[in-house]
Amino acid sequence: KPQRQANPPDTTSLKKLAQAAQECTGCDLYKNASQAVFGQGSKKAKIMIVGEQPGDKEDLAGLPFVGPAGELLRHCITEAGLSIDDIYLTNAVKHFKWKPAGKVRLHQKPSLTEIRACHPWLEKEMEAIKPKIIIALGATAATSVLGRVPKISTERGKVIQDDKTGDMIIISWHPSAILRGYDLEDSDLKRAQLIADLKLAKKKLT
Ligand code: URA
Repeated sequence: KPQRQANPPDTTSLKKLAQAAQECTGCDLYKNASQAVFGQGSKKAKIMIVGEQPGDKEDLAGLPFVGPAGELLRHCITEAGLSIDDIYLTNAVKHFKWKPAGKVRLHQKPSLTEIRACHPWLEKEMEAIKPKIIIALGATAATSVLGRVPKISTERGKVIQDDKTGDMIIISWHPSAILRGYDLEDSDLKRAQLIADLKLAKKKLT
């Protein structure tokens, strides 16, 4: 049985793609999410940052990285000397995956099948923006961008050249991993590394 997958329209208009994503039934996640959260930013952005999936706040707002992880990411972007206006923000998976836990909607990690099903949207965003650098935050994002499961501990913080596309890819920590650090020291280290990785991306632009 062929795997279900997103089927984006043949366009590089971000507006049209974002509208079409609202109708996506490429996996089952649309059933429990409020809406698809498409990427946000300028078509001229040189840097594309890819997260995992929208969280609770993003699902309600319809915008990526507007919750606690997003706030931390935006701080790190500024600290790295980058402007949010130079960046296109998106996610590997466009619908919020969650399970009820009392009154809260508890985040659930997307499966490999869901990451693959959603990949055509990310591909379309890359085609539309043609970023110079793609920063993948965490394992889910890196899996989608690289097309294989990454080893964050050894692959983080360096420029990886995609053999097929020629894209420059940098893997870094997901801001949620910083927020959930094992302890303060672990969080501080990961935060510093995320900022360093954003600075590396900045350096590669010139
Ligand atoms: N975490 C993500 O990976 N993406 C968002 O948009 C928000 C939180």
